[in-house]
Amino acid sequence: MIFGFDANKARKDFPVLSKDIIYFDNACMSLKPLQVIERINEYYKEYSACAGRSAHKLASRVENEVAKSREELRKIVNAKKQEEIIFTRNTTEGINLVANSIGLRKGDEVIISDKEHNSNLLPWLKLRKNGMIVKICPGNSDGTFNLENFEKLISKKTKIVSVVFTSNVDGVTNPIKGICKIAHDNGSLVLADGAQAVPSHEVDVGGLDVDFLAFSGHKMLGPTGTGVLYGKKKLLEKMDQFIIGGETVTNTNYDSYEMEELPMKFEAGLQDYAGIIGLGEACRYLKRVGLGSIKKQELKLNALISRELLKNEKIRILGPGDAGQRSGIFSFNIKGMNPHNVSKILENSRNILTRSGMHCVHSWFNSRKIGGSVRASMYFYNTEEEAEIFVGEVQKICKAF
Ligand SMILES: Cc1ncc(COP(=O)(O)O)c(C=O)c1O
Repeated sequence: MIFGFDANKARKDFPVLSKDIIYFDNACMSLKPLQVIERINEYYKEYSACAGRSAHKLASRVENEVAKSREELRKIVNAKKQEEIIFTRNTTEGINLVANSIGLRKGDEVIISDKEHNSNLLPWLKLRKNGMIVKICPGNSDGTFNLENFEKLISKKTKIVSVVFTSNVDGVTNPIKGICKIAHDNGSLVLADGAQAVPSHEVDVGGLDVDFLAFSGHKMLGPTGTGVLYGKKKLLEKMDQFIIGGETVTNTNYDSYEMEELPMKFEAGLQDYAGIIGLGEACRYLKRVGLGSIKKQELKLNALISRELLKNEKIRILGPGDAGQRSGIFSFNIKGMNPHNVSKILENSRNILTRSGMHCVHSWFNSRKIGGSVRASMYFYNTEEEAEIFVGEVQKICKAF
C-alpha cells in the first residue's frame, strides 16, 4: 500500500484534481495518476521502439515491458495464463472480436440483457443479417437481473450469452456466476462486459467461470485507447481471427499463411506499446490502493448521496433504492427537468462534472420512454465533502425549479 486508504492522499497523485472541479464522471472515464503518466512518458523518452519485430535492445525492452503489463492484467482478473489476456483498444473491440470469431451461424441464438451498452448490443444486432437471432432478457423493474426470465429464454440454440457485468446506467452488478452456471449447463458460452466492473470490483474470472471478459483501460486509471479481452485459452485457441495482418502470422505465401499463437494471433499490427505499459502501471496502482478499498469508498459516497437525495420527492433514481446495489453510480432525474439542464447547472454553479443523456444505452431508455438521466459516478479519489456539495446543489435545483 502506498497509503492506508485515504481519498485526500490519493488525490495528490491526480494532476487534474488540482483544478477547482468535482469530477463525478468516472463511469465515462477515470482520471490518470502521475505514476501512469510518467510510465508513458518514460516509454516515449527512453525506448520508443516496437516489440516483436526487431531484435535490438530497445525492442527487447519494449517486449519485456509489454510482457510485464500482460502479467499485471492477468493478475487483476485472476486469469490462469498470460496468453488469455489479449490487448485491444477498448471493451467495444473485445466484444466485436468475440462476436465475429466464435463461428456463429444461421439459426444460432445470442442472449443479451435489456440494459446493454451499444457496444454490447450492436455487434450482435449486426449479425442478424447472417440469420442469427438476438434475444433480449427482460430485467426486474428495479434494474436488477431476472434469472428466471433468463432460464426461460435460454435454449439449445443459445450459443452465447453476452451481458453487462456492472451497468453504466444504474450501477447494478449482475449475477455473472449464476448466469455462467445456467449457461454452461445448457452448453452456451458467456461473455461479460466488464467495462464498469473491473475498475472497482475484485473480479476473478476463474471463480466466476466466465468464458470471456472485455474491459477498457481508460476507466481503470489507464491510458485512452487501451483495453483487454480475457478468454479461456481453449476457446481462444479454437477461435478464428478477427483483424489479421502483421504480428498475427508466423509465415505467409501468396496463397496461404500460418497463424501465430496466442495472444499475438489476435493482436494485429503495431500495438499501442506506451498505452499497454501505462495500463500495466495502472494495475499496479489499483492493487496498491486495493480494490476492496475502492469499492468501499464508492459505496460510502453513494450511500451518503442516496440517503440525502432519496428523501426528496422530486428526485427519481434509476436502479434500486439501496445504494449498496449501485456501486459508485447515482443516476437520477429531477421531476419536470431536462437532465442536460440539470447537469449544466451543476457545472455552472460548483464545477460539478456529471454526464447527462442516455449513456449509450438508448435501447433501455427508449423502451421505457425515459428521455435520459443525470449520472453522477464516483471513484475512490472522490470525497465525502464533494458528495455533500453535490447533495446541496441538487437540493438547491429542486427548490429553485
Ligand atoms: C458497460 C459499458 N460497456 C461498454 C462500454 C464501452 O467502452 P469503450 O467505449 O471503452 O469500448 C462502456 C463505456 O462507457 C460501458 O460503460
